Formats: sequence, C-alpha cells, structure tokens
Amino acid sequence: MPEALINQLADIVGNAGLRTGNDDTASFLTDWHGQYHGQALAVVMPETTAQVANIMAFADVNDIVVVPQGGNTGFMGGATPDADGRTILLSLRRMNRIREIDATNMSMTVEAGCVLQSLHEETEKQGLYFPLKLAAKGSCTIGGNLGTNAGGLNVVRYGTTRELTLGLEVVLMGGRVLNMLSGLRKDNTGYDLRNLFVGSEGTLGVITAATMKLFPQPAARATAFAEVRDVEAAVALLHRLQAASGGGVEAFELIPADILHVLFHHFPNIPQPLATRGKMNVLMEIASTNPASGIADDTGQSPLRTIIEETLGAALEDGLVLDATIAASEAQRQALWDVRETAPESHKMSAGVARSDISLPQSALAPFYDEMVAGIRAIDPNLWICGYGHIGDGNLHFNLIADEKSNADFDSKKVDLYELLYEKVAKYNGSISAEHGIGQTKRAQLAKVKSPEIMDVMRAIKASIDPKNLMNPGKVV
Ligand code: FAD
Ligand code: LAC
Ligand code: ZN
Repeated sequence: MPEALINQLADIVGNAGLRTGNDDTASFLTDWHGQYHGQALAVVMPETTAQVANIMAFADVNDIVVVPQGGNTGFMGGATPDADGRTILLSLRRMNRIREIDATNMSMTVEAGCVLQSLHEETEKQGLYFPLKLAAKGSCTIGGNLGTNAGGLNVVRYGTTRELTLGLEVVLMGGRVLNMLSGLRKDNTGYDLRNLFVGSEGTLGVITAATMKLFPQPAARATAFAEVRDVEAAVALLHRLQAASGGGVEAFELIPADILHVLFHHFPNIPQPLATRGKMNVLMEIASTNPASGIADDTGQSPLRTIIEETLGAALEDGLVLDATIAASEAQRQALWDVRETAPESHKMSAGVARSDISLPQSALAPFYDEMVAGIRAIDPNLWICGYGHIGDGNLHFNLIADEKSNADFDSKKVDLYELLYEKVAKYNGSISAEHGIGQTKRAQLAKVKSPEIMDVMRAIKASIDPKNLMNPGKVV
C-alpha cells in the first residue's frame, strides 16, 4: 500500500493497531484449517467504534475491500481475504470490553472482540450464564459468533446465537453507525435489521458491539455417555430425557464409533468412556438452576442424577440403550466432554477429510443416516464415517475421514461424496449449512439450493447496503 495510505490508517488506529509486515500478518491471512490463504494491504486493529467508522470511511473513499475477522476459527473461509491483496483485514480483537452487565435485565452489552470464554467467566462471577458453548470458546469472539450465527453444544436448550441476541451496533461501509443496541425482549419497530446482520458473515457491515441475553447459572448438572442401538434410538432417548427433565436437556451429541477411532488414534491419552466402543453413542447433559437438584442423598443420588439414571435404565430395558456411564465427578464429566470437544482437532490432524454441517428434521435423521452410510460404503468401504454432533437440534457434521491407506484418491471421491450428501439433504428437506455458514466454501452450493428469486432478494439487499461490494466480497452471495 502506498505509504501515504498507510499513514492515514496509522492516524486512525495508531501504530499499535496496525500490522503490515509479512510475519506480523501471516496468522491473520490463513484460516484455522490452513485451507485458504489470502493477502492484505494491512491488518488493522481498532479499539473503538469511532475508529471502525473512520476505517470504513477511508476504505470507501479509496475503494479498498474490508474483511472483518474475530478469532479466525471459522470453518468456511469467511474471514480470509482473496489473493489480490487490495484488502484491509479488520481484526476486532482489540475491541474486547464488556460495556455493561445488567443483572436485572438479564443482559450484557459487549464489544465484538470479546473472546467467548471470557464472557462465560465474567458472567459466572455474577451468578449469570451465557449459554453459547463451542469447542473454539478459548479463541472465537462474540463478533465472529454473531457473524456466523454460531450454534454449538447448547442450542437444544437456548437456541443459536441469533436467538440469544437482543441488540447490535453495526458500522456500514462509508462509516455510518447503526446503533441498534437494546435490551428489549419485544420491539416491533420496522424491519428486523438485527436478524439481517446476524449470520451475514461480514458481507453487510462490521458488528462492533452486541447486547446478549443472560440466564440464571445452572447449579447442578448430570452428564452421561450411552451406547445406543442406532440413530432412531438416540432420537427416542432425547425425547424421553426432555420429558423426564422438564425440558432440561442442555446438550445431546451423537458420537459414532468411527469418531472414537479417529480421536483415540490422535489422542490416545483421552480416556475411553465405555469399556467397549459402541457403534453409536450419545453424550447427554441435563441441568437445573435449582441447587437442591444437585444435592446427593444418603445413597449418593441427587434428583438430577436420578432422572438421567431412571431414563437410561428404562431405555436399557426397552433395548434403546445398550450400555451407559454417568459422570460421578466434575473431572469425569470433563473427560466425557473432552471426547466430544476434541473431535474437530482430530479431524484436522487426519490424512484427508470431507467436512459438512447439515441439519434435518428430527424425523428424518435415522433414515438419512442409514442411507448415507450405505451410499458412502458404495463409494469407498474404507472411509471412517464420522457423522456426529448436535443431534439434539437436528445438526450433524457428517465428516468423512481418510487415513493413510484410503487417502490416495480421496480428492476425486470427494466430488461423489458431496453429491451424495447434498442429494440426501435435499431429499429430506434439510439445510446445507446448519451453523458454520457459507463463506467461500459453500457459495456455489448456496446458489444451487436457493431459488433464483431468493438469490435475487439476497443480492439486492447486499447491493443496497454495500453498493460498491467492498464488504467481504466473494463470500455468501
Ligand atoms: P472468524 O473466523 O474470525 O470469522 C467468521 C466469519 O464472521 C467471517 O465471515 C468474518 O468475516 C465474520 N466476522 C467476524 N467478526 C465479525 C464482526 N465483528 N462483524 C461482522 N462479521 C464478522 N461453530 C459452530 O457454530 N458450532 C460449533 O460447535 C463449532 N465448533 C468449533 C470447534 C472448533 C475446534 C473450531 C476451531 C471451530 C468451531 N466452530 C463452531 C466454528 C467457529 O468457531 C465459529 O464459526 C465461530 O463463531 C467463529 O468465530 P470467530 O471469532 O473465530 O470468527
Ligand atoms: C463441532 C464443530 C465442528 O461441532 O462445529 O465439532
Ligand atoms: Zn458443530
């Protein structure tokens, strides 16, 4: 970038907020999987909304693209610029202040660069709970969670990021600031712009702050890992547990045997939950805000543990469940969660992986799963079939893993595998993106699954808010 332009940016954010050297910028220009590589004129790290507005005015005047980035943990290449280099990589990481926690309104107003885990820690100090949970919590930011409408582990109870959002502050290309920060639960004043920006993956504007819902902190939890007969049995067990716990299921995750194989291959020190590795398993957690529900009686049973034990016991008698273990301590609970939360890392370490992020109606999960397994086996009998994840809300990551033996012609097989996946998703009225978004990875597929009329409306919205197409171009639409 010409020095005069760099100087203007330095005037806006100061030298501490500007990185231009190759070494300083490299980690911002590659995604978490190392799949996408981009270029940028500079990485710019503002500290205030006013600085973001000035950067956006500067970019507009000089026709420079802006790519917003939070923790750079996204899966769809949405935060990686293209290779032509006429881009400002706008990192929100330094905008990381909690502006307010309003315990009476059960809400918090936070800046986009707050790391998710820091929000868990700060709210917990006040006995409050922010329920958005994902394995990237130590690095992802609330701005990125909003940008992708992240889902994660607790959607079955609390909904996606969108459902946790009360208000937003957004800066548009050119520098206009939309102050939509609000702690209101009900507000029908005109079009819902908040929901338009949540999940827009940085293509419409920069989210600089948000007001998010808070909940009472759960006082007790019961967590179990069960081998189930099949996917149909897993769905039946979910409904039984919801009924028995009064809708208290916080997480309900499907874990097939192949997930365990890949995981223990790369992480042999993580303890295996059950003595034998069941073909299909579920990690489940119920929670209550009532402290009494976690207090053990003389026999060591708490009310919450009794609910999960009785539900599993009845399901065992009915043949839905084949084996199960209930965490007896926080350490055991954490060990069960390690099995689940380390799965993405183990896939990244594998020789080859075809990733996906689909959702289906609960009623379609079992037939979909069986048809997928049969179809995959016909393409390659040696792949590890890791269809896992948030089955409690109908979201599966149907990942296919190649090892050293099956990796040779895996790239050519991927075409057939994705064709099979998308054909089955369409057959059962599912979605090609449940929670990871579209980014650059699924842009072409989005145009295939949405009607021309819907694509036209999406493009018209984009053009009206960002007429010069300077906000994260090449992503989503
Ligand atoms: P980034 O990767 O930096 O950006 C993601 C997108 O949001 C980009 O398009 C970017 O331009 C845009 N963006 C970022 N900040 C802003 C902003 N301030 N304003 C406007 N747009 C912005 N995702 C799930 O949904 N559920 C999971 O369970 C889950 N588990 C994961 C586990 C692991 C181990 C990892 C590595 C990732 C996981 N993810 C999951 C994916 C990822 O963590 C989420 O998509 C997360 O929301 C991204 O946040 P981020 O701050 O890293 O965003
Ligand atoms: C998960 C990420 C990949 O649920 O969304 O593991
Ligand atoms: Zn997920």
